[in-house]
Amino acid sequence: MRIAQHLSEVAEQAIEAALGETAPAALRPAKDPRHGDYQLSGVMPLAKRLGRPPRELAVPVAEHLGQHEAIAAAEVAGPGFVNLRLDPTWVGAAITGMLSDRSRDGVPSVARAKKVVVDFSSPNIAKQMHVGHLRSTIIGDAISRLLSFVGHEVVRDNHLGDWGTQFGLLIVGMRAFGDTEALERDAIQELDRVYKLAAARAKQDEVFAESARAELAKLQQGDQDNRGLWQQFVAATRVTLERAYERMEVHFDTWLGESAYQDRLAGVVQTLLERGVAREDQGAICVFFEGDKDLGKHKTPFIVRKKDGAFLYSTTDIATVQYRKEVFGADAAVYVVDQRQALHFKQLFAVVKLLGIEMELAHVGFGTVLGADGKPLKSRDGDNIKLSDLLDEAEQRASERIRQAAAERGEEMNLTPERLAELAAVVGIGAVKYVDLSQNRTSDYKFDWDKMISFKGNAGPYLQYAHARVHAVFRKAGVDMDKLSTTSSMQLEHPEEVSLAKLLLRFADAVHDAATSYQPHLVCDHLYALARQFSVFYEQCPVLKAQGETRATRLALCALSARQLARGLRLLGIAAPTRM
Ligand code: ARG
Repeated sequence: MRIAQHLSEVAEQAIEAALGETAPAALRPAKDPRHGDYQLSGVMPLAKRLGRPPRELAVPVAEHLGQHEAIAAAEVAGPGFVNLRLDPTWVGAAITGMLSDRSRDGVPSVARAKKVVVDFSSPNIAKQMHVGHLRSTIIGDAISRLLSFVGHEVVRDNHLGDWGTQFGLLIVGMRAFGDTEALERDAIQELDRVYKLAAARAKQDEVFAESARAELAKLQQGDQDNRGLWQQFVAATRVTLERAYERMEVHFDTWLGESAYQDRLAGVVQTLLERGVAREDQGAICVFFEGDKDLGKHKTPFIVRKKDGAFLYSTTDIATVQYRKEVFGADAAVYVVDQRQALHFKQLFAVVKLLGIEMELAHVGFGTVLGADGKPLKSRDGDNIKLSDLLDEAEQRASERIRQAAAERGEEMNLTPERLAELAAVVGIGAVKYVDLSQNRTSDYKFDWDKMISFKGNAGPYLQYAHARVHAVFRKAGVDMDKLSTTSSMQLEHPEEVSLAKLLLRFADAVHDAATSYQPHLVCDHLYALARQFSVFYEQCPVLKAQGETRATRLALCALSARQLARGLRLLGIAAPTRM
């Protein structure tokens, strides 16, 4: 059950019954639990509309709400808020239902499922994947998981930057400086190296530069040899990328790179001209947005064909929307791309609208990852950081941290080297993902290894550890968590049991809100709050020493906590080991 949605409906019925008016409840979780669990502010705008004193209207609404079985107390506060406190018996019954819902942990599916393309990762060939692509990979994967869990049909598409002017330089560069073996070992690294050498040479050597342009033209005209080379670059890069994705447990349903749309581009420009959406300007074909309030003021047109006849990133993106509509029958597309491309996507979406293509489009932008110096994160020699190096370092640091944690607990490391390596991978990569997902995605953030691999605070390892701890409780109790069921409704008595149960009830809202607003951090926030409340509960409410009903209720609360932590982490693409 989505509790906030349910309570909103209850509150709207109360407004209707008390005042004979329909108005949105504007219900939110209360900021301060001392005032209640949820707060309603919808009475105030309604009072304004009716020209009546808000508190006067709030009183009968609160009276109605107070009679509902879910609500223990409804109080008018401040200028006309209504604060609601949930009834522990009702909460107990609600989470008992959740306990038996093993397949969905109480998270309902959406009423209307859509087909959604998630366009993410999308690195460019011959350039080291930069941290921005890592963010796109992590956030895009989490969003795909969230959308499909709430019931949408998701197509994960890697829109590879596999076409463009860099291929002229790469072809001549590979001939002059290339190492085929290195290309097989690590294509991204080798193409990056060759590209840099070729670009430097082209600056000084006009003959070389000219031959690069000639090879590019040949490639574009379909020359067999050059196409073969290009294919080799793309295939080798894909092998290197797949290795990284596999380590990160990320997969794609399709890899339709920019090259896949090349034969549609002339048609796109033609259509834009015919429909009067684009026009010629100094030899180039552009869309202007003079009439548009927002885009008009940017004065930057959307160029779809350059003076020399070349098509652009923008042209490809228009063709891609058409393709996704026609071939996939997509209802929506989500682009997980750096915030710095915001204008590009606004313009793209405006063009799509002008073309009358009906598709819900969203740019899920994200900020920049900064180094300790506050500048975009780079490796020591000023290059983009190699993804595999970053993952290696995460695993190595996680391994150290796991050993250190065992020492702090005064335990011998009793893991075999293989188990330690496995655990370090899960913890290290989980930590990298979590730090990225737990931020409000539009803000920039500073990369900090120590905070990231921490077993305390809002970090991935802390949540994984909290989850493993609950499993340890079951091992000690000799109870199989999956076989746990309660026959009667749970009776919550201790205030920390009630607080934990109320938090558990918020899971479905967190998941749905995160999926709808493309904000995985809402799930992180929930899991972190849950882990913290769990440890308060566990300190104050003995589980193993309790007897009878109390023990059964507490074990059930433990099981629900573990399941939510595991499910939530999985929805973020993070593994949840049962032992750490
Ligand atoms: N390859 C692009 C880049 O690295 C990102 C592509 C994003 N997707 C898209 N459909 N434009 O900047």
